[in-house]
Amino acid sequence: MSKKIGILTSGGDCAGLNAVIRAATFRAVNKYGWKVIGIKDGTLGLISKPLDVLDLTPRDFDGSLMRMGGTFLGSNNKSHPFKTTNNKGSNLSNQVLKGFKELSLDALIGIGGDGSMKILQSLTKKGNINFVGIPKTIDNDVMQNELSIGYDTAVDVATNALDMLQPTAASHRRAMILEVMGRDAGHIALNSGIAGGADIILIPEIPYSLKSISKQIEKIRSQGRNHALIVVAESVRKENGSKASVKFIDGEIRLGGIGAYLSDEIYKITNTETRVTVLGHLQRGAQPTHRDRLIASAFGVYAVDLIHKEKYNRVVVWQNREVTDVDLNSIAGKSKTIKKHDPLIKVAQGLGIYVGELS
Ligand code: F6P
Repeated sequence: MSKKIGILTSGGDCAGLNAVIRAATFRAVNKYGWKVIGIKDGTLGLISKPLDVLDLTPRDFDGSLMRMGGTFLGSNNKSHPFKTTNNKGSNLSNQVLKGFKELSLDALIGIGGDGSMKILQSLTKKGNINFVGIPKTIDNDVMQNELSIGYDTAVDVATNALDMLQPTAASHRRAMILEVMGRDAGHIALNSGIAGGADIILIPEIPYSLKSISKQIEKIRSQGRNHALIVVAESVRKENGSKASVKFIDGEIRLGGIGAYLSDEIYKITNTETRVTVLGHLQRGAQPTHRDRLIASAFGVYAVDLIHKEKYNRVVVWQNREVTDVDLNSIAGKSKTIKKHDPLIKVAQGLGIYVGELS
């Protein structure tokens, strides 16, 4: 039976989104002969008047699009249809659902992180929408899923940054601090820190002490090395437990500043010259790595096949080197962070990297 499906990208963008939209469109049109509708700017495309949507066909994907970062459908991580109020004081979920009905869609593919999955879970439940989710987020914190689209590229960007920081650190005998994203999960910091030869990796899941950081720098010095590399995840707290954050002009308070804090503290206690690099959105906008394109392709095809089987309320995930699917309700609203017994923590310890106070 022919179907008409919608596809949208929601939350912060990342590398590999164009590749997953392409894969889903190819599978839906070429294999099943379905119609695919791209919804612009997350759910915002469904409340705009007229609806902001476009027909997607394989012809829309020239050879270059899958190689590019970002999402050509647009995304947004600000508007929450259950919280945003219109001028009548009600939330916008009914308008989103009205837009969905107007399109007469048989199913929806939502590509998002843990936050988006939670929102889409509520929306699709309320509107009785046939839903399949695809995880994407540089934070890699979607439960029951080893790899989210965009994460591999972000780790690669952070590893490359450490490769570039090391020579300049050595030239000036400095401790270089790299502040990376990841929200409340330390996956980017831990993985790039190991791959990029860091001496100290600080993640939100494990407390640290400035005294131990100072000891680690002393140890490096006593072994004859004149510089150090430190990776810190953005939501690591100051030693007194407070979060480093910045108030933006729009009134929002966002994570940021832990690198600068550590830079001052490390300078004070070790008398080592320090510098900070805040990697920021470079981690999101880079060209997708081969792994992100691969996962995006596998997820896109699998999501469409789930719809073909009419298996809904599922999220496509990567487990043990293959694609499978899990119940949306079992992952929505939860987040995968690093445990003290994570195998990579052991690897870091084995390398002599300081990863915080583990005992
Ligand atoms: O969730 C993805 C993410 O990139 C986080 O790692 C980061 O804290 C946040 O989004 C930044 O969001 P924004 O695009 O609003 O600056």
